[in-house]
Amino acid sequence: MSVIEVKQLVKHYGDVRAVDGVDLSVSAGEVFALLGPNGAGKSTAVEILEGYRSKTSGSVSVLGHDPAKAGRAYRERIGIVLQETAVEEQLTVEEAIDLYGSMYPNRRRTGELIELVGLEEKTNSRIKTLSGGQRRRLELALGIVGDPELIFLDEPTTGFDPSARRQAWSIVENLTSLGKTVLLTTHYMDEAQYLADRVAVIARGKIVAEGTPDTLGGRETAKTLITFQSNDQSIDGLPSDDVSLSENGRVTVRSANPTSDLYRITGWAIDHGVELAGLSVSRPSLEDVYLELTGEKADV
Ligand SMILES: Nc1ncnc2c1ncn2[C@@H]1O[C@H](COP(=O)(O)OP(=O)(O)OP(=O)(O)O)[C@@H](O)[C@H]1O
Ligand SMILES: [Mg+2]
Repeated sequence: MSVIEVKQLVKHYGDVRAVDGVDLSVSAGEVFALLGPNGAGKSTAVEILEGYRSKTSGSVSVLGHDPAKAGRAYRERIGIVLQETAVEEQLTVEEAIDLYGSMYPNRRRTGELIELVGLEEKTNSRIKTLSGGQRRRLELALGIVGDPELIFLDEPTTGFDPSARRQAWSIVENLTSLGKTVLLTTHYMDEAQYLADRVAVIARGKIVAEGTPDTLGGRETAKTLITFQSNDQSIDGLPSDDVSLSENGRVTVRSANPTSDLYRITGWAIDHGVELAGLSVSRPSLEDVYLELTGEKADV
């Protein structure tokens, strides 16, 4: 069953085509991640789905509603963590969760949420005294206080320390184990890799690729990279077709058959007394594919 159906969504701000013909379909129970550089149109698209921004054109259906016209019944079924939130600074953590919770019929308990996001020690602290990461944790708690079916998370873990990020991931996993649907944006490729069932890369308002984290941009069929440091030894006669040598002496072999290529390369090295220093075998990471797709790959 489809929870989000978007066709040819367009949003213009004056001359800026922030979202420029986006199609999206997210099924119930799925974690869908939107990746893309700063200004790509992620927040704009997500906030249109939330009902926070108006669209220029296109069709949007979320939980069977048009978010632009939907009222309270819709809001009670969704949870939102905006990229930037204005929470009343004078409230304590506990008061803020109580206040937000009072707006929902099926609210989760305040104590349970505080524990879930790891803010026990800050229960009675005013929001204005929280660190950036602590505030973001509170915002995550506020986003799920209404026990929503569908949760929008716009860069939920920005500013989190590594252990808080893992904790947030397990909160998301916990939500999906309860059958909830999650639409998230992130700049962290490991986050998308870990959490998402499907990802879409958006650049300049358009979706440039979509797939599972493992298959995006042909990743599963991409060549394996076998690299090592040549250390002034000659690599003449290295038994491979696609060999390149960088200025710093790093040898890279691109291989479609890594098992046999590795066998031949290591055999050659032993026969010639060559030490394959720093030998590594890798597939393109999600980040490599992402940088390729968004044209942001640095020249190296
Ligand atoms: N209220 C606004 N008025 C005018 N232009 C806007 C407005 N909001 C966003 N934009 C522009 O629309 C484009 C998309 O912005 P958006 O915030 O959706 O990007 P994003 O993908 O979320 O980026 P980031 O990763 O930095 O959060 C940008 O060029 C931005 O400057
Ligand atoms: Mg954004």
